[in-house]
Parts: sequence; structure tokens; C-alpha cells
Amino acid sequence: MKKSKLKTTYVCNECGATFPTWVGRCSVCGSYNSVVEEIVEEKKAIKSFTLREILPKPITNLKSDISLERIKSGFDSLDKALGGGFVSGQVVLVSGEPGIGKSTLLLQVASNFAKRNKTLYISAEESSHQVYLRAQRLSALNDNLYVLSDTNLENIISGIENLKPGLIVLDSVQTVYSENLESPAGSVSQVKYVSSKITEISKSKGIISLIVGQVTKEGTIAGPKVLEHLVDTVAQFEGERGYAYRILKVIKNRFGSSGEIAVFNMTDKGMEEVLDPSGFFISEKPANQSGSVIFPYTEGSKPILVEVQALVSKTFYPVPQRRSQGIDLNKISIITAIMENQLKINLKDKDIFVNVVGGIKIDEPAVDLAVATAIFSAYKNIPVPDDMAIFGELGLTGEVRSVHFEDIRIKECKSKGITKILASTKYKDDSLTVLNIQKINQILDIIK
Ligand SMILES: Nc1ncnc2c1ncn2[C@@H]1O[C@H](COP(=O)(O)OP(=O)(O)O)[C@@H](O)[C@H]1O
Ligand SMILES: [Mg+2]
Repeated sequence: MKKSKLKTTYVCNECGATFPTWVGRCSVCGSYNSVVEEIVEEKKAIKSFTLREILPKPITNLKSDISLERIKSGFDSLDKALGGGFVSGQVVLVSGEPGIGKSTLLLQVASNFAKRNKTLYISAEESSHQVYLRAQRLSALNDNLYVLSDTNLENIISGIENLKPGLIVLDSVQTVYSENLESPAGSVSQVKYVSSKITEISKSKGIISLIVGQVTKEGTIAGPKVLEHLVDTVAQFEGERGYAYRILKVIKNRFGSSGEIAVFNMTDKGMEEVLDPSGFFISEKPANQSGSVIFPYTEGSKPILVEVQALVSKTFYPVPQRRSQGIDLNKISIITAIMENQLKINLKDKDIFVNVVGGIKIDEPAVDLAVATAIFSAYKNIPVPDDMAIFGELGLTGEVRSVHFEDIRIKECKSKGITKILASTKYKDDSLTVLNIQKINQILDIIK
């Protein structure tokens, strides 16, 4: 007898869209090479249909089932970024590239939590022994910290039900599989299924679940993007190889405001909180150096002073080089086009390199003016005053626009000894020189 072929469909790993045939580029989210074949799981046929009676309740009769008491992670800045700490039953997805320090931080959090309550670290990527060695290095050994090294979801659920921990770490969602699905670990359907089962058990038992999601640049593994709507909180771990600092950005949070961040320094003893990130990031800014600008960056409500650097040199290529670390290259092209147009300079025979020191990634428009000024300062080889901070959005006609959170940016600058602010602002402060800039060509008055 001919064996029936498994039914398959094509799913985008980035956004979860499905297609009847393979396509090289997902027409929904636009990503390339993200569409993979997946086995369609047969749905059980509905046996009978019964008429249900559902009665909605008035909101004033509702009491929250989840206690909103905040449970501390052991890291003050992480608790702040989460809106005060974890909440019972909360599911947090911690995503980041391999080697960034997810396992390290979460093992530390698990160990801190184990001081009060049973905690389970589920390691689906590493052996128990590896987790033990790491815990020893991080001084995270604790009798209340349990380890389960398994990749089978049904085993993991049994482990959770038997131990009854208050917090679990699932490291990582891409390496766990359920016997109920035929597709391999890491496929969109497995990743979704595993996370929905973990979410279910968290909610029903009030367990805090910290789920690790690996992201690869190639997008070959089911990206945590498809999980974002399943979980309460999404925290993205960022940083550059070669730098010790790490930033945890809370990009979604059902229990607090999103956009908040915590900064860590990765040492051989584990993650250490950086309580004064501004001091940390501008501590090595060179004095009296052209091409270097201080930018007060805000992520959530927390301002951080960072150094934006530019290098402008004569090109030896037919097409000049544009390179950037930490800022989108398209933005650099637009800014240089505005500069050529408005400042009447020629950058076509110049290579331009832009870097945000420490490797922070910045995508807010407020950085535009800082980038333009850094490039112009490098082009002219004239430094920007060391005690000046610069921010503002640039329009295509060279206008400088005001940006949000201007007062918290300026207050942070002031507390770090900045005395001059260049921005489109009506801010008044007698102890500061506030230079209100409306058009980009006004920087000709500053860098001369
Ligand atoms: N013995 C060690 N001493 C110091 N740092 C280490 C040691 N082993 C690993 N690391 C650091 O920890 C990082 C890996 O962190 P990890 O938490 O495993 O990342 P992730 O879980 O995000 O892949 C490595 O990049 C390395 O810098
Ligand atoms: Mg890991």
C-alpha cells in the first residue's frame, strides 16, 4: 500500500506567515530565506457541538487572580526595568544572540530567587555538569536551585509538576521538542507549542517562567518574533563581542512600561549591574578630539550619555565607503545627503565611518544631529567642546526638530557635568548654556 505523504506547509520563521509553496522572500514581513517547510499537525475532529452559556461579568466584580506583588530578581536595575520586579505567573522571553550572556544572567537570577523558593533551571542546551560549573564560577550554588538537563517537553513538564518551583528558566526554547509534534526542535510549530505549554503551566500554577530564545542573524531558527504575542514580557539582550557591557531592553511588558533598560558588565564572576551607565559609557571619551560628540540617549525613561564618533577620510574607491556601528546605515546616507545639501560640502570623495562607543544600537531620531555634528567635526578636524551634549531630529530640508524626553536628557547631562546643550529646545536653565538650533547650517557657527 502506498504510504500517505505527510501534509506540509511553508512557514516564515520571522513572522509566522504561511504559504502554499516555498518562496525566497516572505511577502508579509519582507525577510529573505526565512520560509521553511513544516509538517501540518492534524487537528482532532470536533466530536459534537454543544450550545454554551457564557455570562460576562462587570469589571467592578473582578478581582485580579494574579497577585501583583513584585518579586525581586536580585538586580535592582533589572527590577526597575521590569516595572518593580517579576509578578507571579509572569512569562518572560529573554532573547539574544549566542554568547551574549543569557544563560549567565538567568542562572544568577535563578540563584537569587532560590534564596527564598525552589527554582528549576531547565537546560536543554548544556549538560547538568556544565550548568554546575557555571554556577560554581558565578557563586550561584544553592540547595534550592534544581537542574534538569532535558530536551523533551513532556519530561520537563513532569519535572515542573513534581518539583513545584516558584521560578523556572527554560534554556532555550529552540532546543526543546514535544513528542506530540512531528516537526523538529526549533521549528515554528515546536517553538510555539513549547512556549504555549510553558505559559499554560506558569499561569495555572503561578510560576515565573524565564524562557531563553536564541536569535541568529541568518534567521534559520524560529525567531522569537513569533513568540512575542504569547508571552507577557519580552526582554532583548544586546551587546557587542569584544565589549564587556550588556544591555537588557524590555521591549514588551504587560506589567510595566516597555522600553526600559538595565545595563550590565560581564565579568568572569557573572553579570554586574552598571548603576551609572552614563559614567560608564563616556568615561573614556578623548578630550579635545574632533569627530566625537556626546549624545544623551533615552531608552524608555532612562537617559544614558553615549559617545558618537565619526571618521571622515579621503576615499580610494570609485564609490565612497559608508560604515556604521550602532546606527542604521540608511540614516547615515540621509544625514550625509542633508549635510551636502545644506552645508554646501562635498562628501562624495570621502569615506565616512560612524560608531557609537560601547556598541550600543541606537534607532531613535534624536541621534541625527549628534551624528551630523560628529561627521562635520571630523570633516573639519575641529573638536566639539568637551562639555557639550547634542541631540535633535533632522528633517530633509535641514530643519532640526525637537524630540521627546528633552528634560530628562538635559537633567542627565547636567548631572554629568555637561554645561552646553545643542538642540531644538526652549528649555531654560541658568546654569546651562542652551543653544537653540533650528537649522543644521547653524552648526557652522559652532564648528569653526
Ligand atoms: N570560564 C569563563 N570565564 C569567563 N567568562 C566566561 C567563561 N565561560 C564563558 N564565559 C563568557 O560567557 C559568555 C557566554 O555566556 P552565556 O551566558 O553562555 O551566553 P548565552 O547563553 O547568551 O549564549 C561567553 O561569551 C564568555 O564571554
Ligand atoms: Mg546559553
